[in-house]
Amino acid sequence: EKKKVIFSGIQPSGDLTIGNYLGALKNWAALQDEYESYYCVVDLHALTVRQDSAELRARTLKNIAIYVASGLDPKKNTLFIQSHVPAHSEASWLLSCFCYMGELSRMTQFKDKSQKVGESVSSALFTYPVLMAADILLYNTDLVPVGSDQKQHIELARDLAIRFNNLYSPTFTIPEPYIGDTGARIMDLQEPDKKMSKSADNPNAYVLIMDPPDVIRRKISRAVTDDLGVVKYNESQPGISNLISILSTIAGKKPEDIEKEYDGIGYAKFKSDVAEALVEELQPLQNTVKQLLDDKPYMESIYKSGAEKASYVANKTLRKMQKKLGL
Ligand code: ADP
Ligand code: NA
Repeated sequence: EKKKVIFSGIQPSGDLTIGNYLGALKNWAALQDEYESYYCVVDLHALTVRQDSAELRARTLKNIAIYVASGLDPKKNTLFIQSHVPAHSEASWLLSCFCYMGELSRMTQFKDKSQKVGESVSSALFTYPVLMAADILLYNTDLVPVGSDQKQHIELARDLAIRFNNLYSPTFTIPEPYIGDTGARIMDLQEPDKKMSKSADNPNAYVLIMDPPDVIRRKISRAVTDDLGVVKYNESQPGISNLISILSTIAGKKPEDIEKEYDGIGYAKFKSDVAEALVEELQPLQNTVKQLLDDKPYMESIYKSGAEKASYVANKTLRKMQKKLGL
């Protein structure tokens, strides 16, 4: 039986956080034998807001290294950089000819992001979900592992695929969101009612995958908690519950077991254990990232062969689209 296809990507718009790691990368690695997977560093998406070009280039490469160091085997997964496969840009234009202004105007992520920027918001931020639809549809993707904030974008990709298939003939597989059961949602360390994001203004709000041990310890020790003094996973203790989630995802323990383990034990000891668990989890990964980045020829072989494999599939889909459209 043919393996199902998975596609996902992360923007190199900031350094990756433990939210990206525990909520995405770690789960992706667990799926690599069961699925045919395409994982992309979506550098074109990152350009929707102004980037320093040298930093963007370096971060894009670093993120490929982080994908590999997180356990994604470049032989089992197609790991590539979005801009290396020009079919994404062309398919995005073609799909935009079938996407309504009204559909894009309803995207809540655009509404949120554009409110912050105001008048000078780029038109690319508005059409971003069309590029995301192209990313997904080019690979005959069955499943897209994403957070709940991306569900509306997947819905649009589905609508565009169905519209095109109906207007012409079956061209695209209709993708579905993949909500894994292990997909932890990691929250902001300072405002634990928000998800942890690499685009937060306050660096104490997140732990980066590449943060050194002393920085990890400091950020976890400063994480906002409460004055109840019990390590309990519940709605009225969002800060503590988030730290329990982090520990539970790393240690593979149930939140209930962690509650029992810390019965009668104070927050200081609990936080220091969470910090040590993170340090232990991330240190080998960080060492691997550094080794990979020192090995330029190996890194190049990964993203070049990734782009080749991705282009082969993407170009086939693009040619189908072009033919049906009279190009
Ligand atoms: P960010 O908000 O940091 O910019 P992205 O939107 O680029 O993150 O998300 C990339 C991937 O990482 C997605 O699959 C998303 O669901 C996952 N992800 C990002 N932040 C978190 C988080 N705080 N908890 C769990 N998963 C997350
Ligand atoms: Na984002």
